[in-house]
Amino acid sequence: QKKYDYLIVGSGLFGAIFAHEMTKQGKKCLVIERRSHIAGNIYTENVEGINVHKYGAHIFHTSNRAVWDYVNSFVEFNRFTNAPIANYKGKLYNLPFNMNTFYQLWGVQTPQQAHDKIEEQRAQYSHITDPQNLEEQALVLGGKDIYEKLIKGYTEKQWGRPATEIPAFIIRRLPFRLTFDNNYFNDTYQGIPIGGYTALIEKMLEGIEVKTNTDYFSDKENMDALAGKVVYTGKIDEYFDHQFGSLDYRSLRFENEILDLPNYQGNAVVNYTERDIPFTRIIEHKHFEFGAQPKTVITREYPEDMSEGKEAYYPINDEKNQQIYQKYKALAGQLPNVIFGGRLAEYKYYDMHQVVEKALDVVHAQKL
Ligand code: FDA
Repeated sequence: QKKYDYLIVGSGLFGAIFAHEMTKQGKKCLVIERRSHIAGNIYTENVEGINVHKYGAHIFHTSNRAVWDYVNSFVEFNRFTNAPIANYKGKLYNLPFNMNTFYQLWGVQTPQQAHDKIEEQRAQYSHITDPQNLEEQALVLGGKDIYEKLIKGYTEKQWGRPATEIPAFIIRRLPFRLTFDNNYFNDTYQGIPIGGYTALIEKMLEGIEVKTNTDYFSDKENMDALAGKVVYTGKIDEYFDHQFGSLDYRSLRFENEILDLPNYQGNAVVNYTERDIPFTRIIEHKHFEFGAQPKTVITREYPEDMSEGKEAYYPINDEKNQQIYQKYKALAGQLPNVIFGGRLAEYKYYDMHQVVEKALDVVHAQKL
């Protein structure tokens, strides 16, 4: 008889939901976490009374009522709506592309005028019938003004290369809204947990044994011996000792600053869309929670290549990496007592609501 039913490697959203649900079923769980804190990439840290999103801005959004009710059963969510602003050479534009943006770009005031203007801009590229790269694709879909002011520089910074060297399929369509609606997401439900995401994960892990600063691979054999099954939410290539090579990721560098003023930019997210400014955006954390603290915390976000010691943020969804991932997945399939789940173990860009859905599916399968 082992001491635990489940050893859960990683205290992010996936691991926390799994541990919570299984504990509720009377199973014994141990959660181990390599970092010094719980909550994985949704970790928020209280700085000057402000919940700072330490691993990037996180906005919860879903159209799945069950998922929304599920997360709200732990902590209440606020009414935050993501409405980012773009700054291009000192001029501000609303995002996503909507009537406000078209007014700011061209002075057009009606949907018909905006439609005609976009068509006029696109017509200049109608000779491009088979776009070969992101630049051509974006010009065909939206024309020169939108591409040059709002897409080009931002995307080049994100990818670390010129738009002419980024594959066209990255942009399949450009969502144009002919309404004055700055809400970035189309989902039915949206918000931020009151008290921050760490409070959400703390609630999920209430009464469950958690060991932080504990790396699974520092003592894998002994840890495996503790439990009947392992739930692994770390990088899948690391689990298999990189035997088929390392999976690629994009990383980010965050530069945080506490400012002695109550309001720096008046919005949670401002994108900097010109190439010459090295960061892609500035996050002002207090605005996720309508904060009225005397100080403010801002974060400049710099996209970076992945290298030793950096956090893996975005899986690279290209053929080479998918092939490597499929090999690891096949190996994982041969381990009946190890469950691979979450963003890093499935090498998939999951949003939070998708992680919730996925984790609850896996829990359900365990109960059968
Ligand atoms: P996560 O990475 O959070 O957890 C895995 C945990 O395992 C980590 O804590 C890690 O330290 C631990 N671990 C790994 N190896 C270990 C080992 N060997 N031993 C012990 N512990 C180990 N989604 C969304 O819905 N809205 C949004 O706005 C955003 N924004 C966003 C911005 C940025 C910059 C990123 C990178 C991601 C987002 N996301 C998002 C996605 C969101 O972050 C993601 O869906 C969840 O955090 C995934 O939770 P997981 O539990 O799968 O992984």
